[in-house]
Amino acid sequence: MTTDNLLRPHAEQLFAAELDALAVADTGTRPPSWNLSPSAVVTYLIGGTLDDGTEITPKYIGPRRLMEIAVATLATDRALLLLGVPGTAKTWVSEHLAAAISGTSTLLVQGTAGTPEEAIRYGWNYARLISEGPSRDALVPSPVMTAMGEGRIARIEELTRIPSDVQDALITVLSEKTLPIPELAAEVQAAKGFSVIATANDRDRGVNDLSSALRRRFNTVVLPLPATAEEEVEIVTSRVAALGKSLELPELPTAAEEIRRVVTVFRELRSGVTEDGRAKVKQPSGTLSTAEAISVITHGIVMAAHFGDGTLRPADVAAGIHGAVVKDPSSDSVVWTEYLEGVVRDRTDWADFYRAARGALR
Ligand SMILES: Nc1ncnc2c1ncn2[C@@H]1O[C@H](COP(=O)(O)OP(=O)(O)OP(=O)(O)O)[C@@H](O)[C@H]1O
Ligand SMILES: [Mg+2]
Repeated sequence: MTTDNLLRPHAEQLFAAELDALAVADTGTRPPSWNLSPSAVVTYLIGGTLDDGTEITPKYIGPRRLMEIAVATLATDRALLLLGVPGTAKTWVSEHLAAAISGTSTLLVQGTAGTPEEAIRYGWNYARLISEGPSRDALVPSPVMTAMGEGRIARIEELTRIPSDVQDALITVLSEKTLPIPELAAEVQAAKGFSVIATANDRDRGVNDLSSALRRRFNTVVLPLPATAEEEVEIVTSRVAALGKSLELPELPTAAEEIRRVVTVFRELRSGVTEDGRAKVKQPSGTLSTAEAISVITHGIVMAAHFGDGTLRPADVAAGIHGAVVKDPSSDSVVWTEYLEGVVRDRTDWADFYRAARGALR
């Protein structure tokens, strides 16, 4: 099967060759049902070179230790909760973990305020239910139920957005490792290898806080914002390149300077202080995540290729930055203007950017 025409192939499709090579080279002990040993899973995430010369690209750029803790958790009987501010790669890491361990990242429940219990337990095919009565064939399993039966990883996105009573359906699953089906006087017992990776956003905390009963069933790993500007530049550069390739965007001469600038602007506004530590700046209302920096640059590349001169220029990213910073038109506009006048204007090598950003205000 070819994935060339897919807008966004799953991790297990995109990195099938890497996963195969890792499985062949893997000499570690695999937990029951795992496709790889824990150390091979970490190599898949962090990257490296195998003995046979195969390059494993880094997926997560950040502390290796965090990935080791996350993978170790999944080898125990506890589930994994990835927590962090928006854009810290929670979803990304969860997808890659599931792909590496279970060979599929698609047993996924998207948490929303409207997620029903059926999404975690099971539902019914009503036509069959009415014509045949309750039977195993009329039952529609949830991704969690499927994962339990097959001994795989189920993913739950944005767990804290799910109403509390629906969240509680997970307690039995995670503590008893079984899902009762009272209608059939039956149950699905989890096969070895089953676990859950949930993600939750720091900013959403309090929306539907996790009950302490549920929280106790998870090991929490907090994914941090990139520690240094260099690290963040590396993340943006590698993701922009990968995205550009999959979207078949025109290739532009190196965009290093603009990437560096966007990352600097984002980090300064996020932290409330300039890079040299000299000046305080006001912080905008939204989070300026690494994910947004990635999309500002990607957008800029398309602008430059189709409407510019084929080189990524300050003008190509200025509009995107403005849109990312100014989420609340009244208060954020003031923050952005102050930053431009107070910080950007004084940087001599930023003159083009200053002019372009002033232009984008009008
Ligand atoms: N440390 C990192 N290493 C590699 N990629 C990263 C890192 N931080 C962010 N990214 C990239 O940022 C993008 C967004 O990440 P993702 O969607 O996983 O964020 P999230 O934490 O789930 O955010 P949200 O809370 O908004 O759902 C991805 O393309 C991911 O590759
Ligand atoms: Mg996410």
